[in-house]
Amino acid sequence: MAVPMEIDVLTLFPEMFEGVLGASILKIAREKDLVRFRLVDVRDFTTDRHRTVDDRPFGGGPGMVMKPEPVVEAVEATEKLSDVPTTRVLLTPQGETFDQRMAHEFAELPRLLLICGHYEGVDERVRLLLNPREVSIGDYVLTGGEPAAMVMMDAVARLIPGVLGAEEALAEESFSDGLLEYPHYTRPREFRGLPVPDVLLSGNHEESRRWRQEQREQRTRERRNDLEPKERP
Ligand code: 6GU
Repeated sequence: MAVPMEIDVLTLFPEMFEGVLGASILKIAREKDLVRFRLVDVRDFTTDRHRTVDDRPFGGGPGMVMKPEPVVEAVEATEKLSDVPTTRVLLTPQGETFDQRMAHEFAELPRLLLICGHYEGVDERVRLLLNPREVSIGDYVLTGGEPAAMVMMDAVARLIPGVLGAEEALAEESFSDGLLEYPHYTRPREFRGLPVPDVLLSGNHEESRRWRQEQREQRTRERRNDLEPKERP
């Protein structure tokens, strides 16, 4: 059997992950033992009575900053839990934007360590000491890196060989060419006056294939002129 990928998630809110790890693709990946997750509560690495993880920024200004000690200690302790070398990723809106290419890249790694940032930001010494990849999932602001970590884990897990079935994996491959998907139809043949296009009912697979390809090109032109055709791996 394949060696499972290890994904360590460092977070102030481990309970946020229970739902996504227990359903759909991440559950399947776990059950097949193709991915092993560890949820690490950064607060467990505080040493004061109040378990303080944030503090006011030096130099003033609004909001709170995540203290460096618990994060760095959590990373060091977590990495010792296995001998597999890890790629450190800090989830932050200032990071490089996550995309399908990066998902493929991460899916090849033996181990990922995801650090979920919170508050207005993470003390700069975390970056300087841990030298993580910094990754964002898009140009909008989340309260914390947790939803971003979930997005990344989903996108990565489904690319690990064996997680998807053979047919789904084939579909994934054909959609990795930089074009949007074609319109899908299933039964009934007519719903609220809207029919399934005749070409899909004709039984002519070559015609269906051509129609779908045209739909993909048209949709991509109309909706996503920014997408480079065939740029994907
Ligand atoms: Cl990774 N973190 C936060 N806080 N906001 C984001 C993000 C990450 N990606 C997009 N927005």
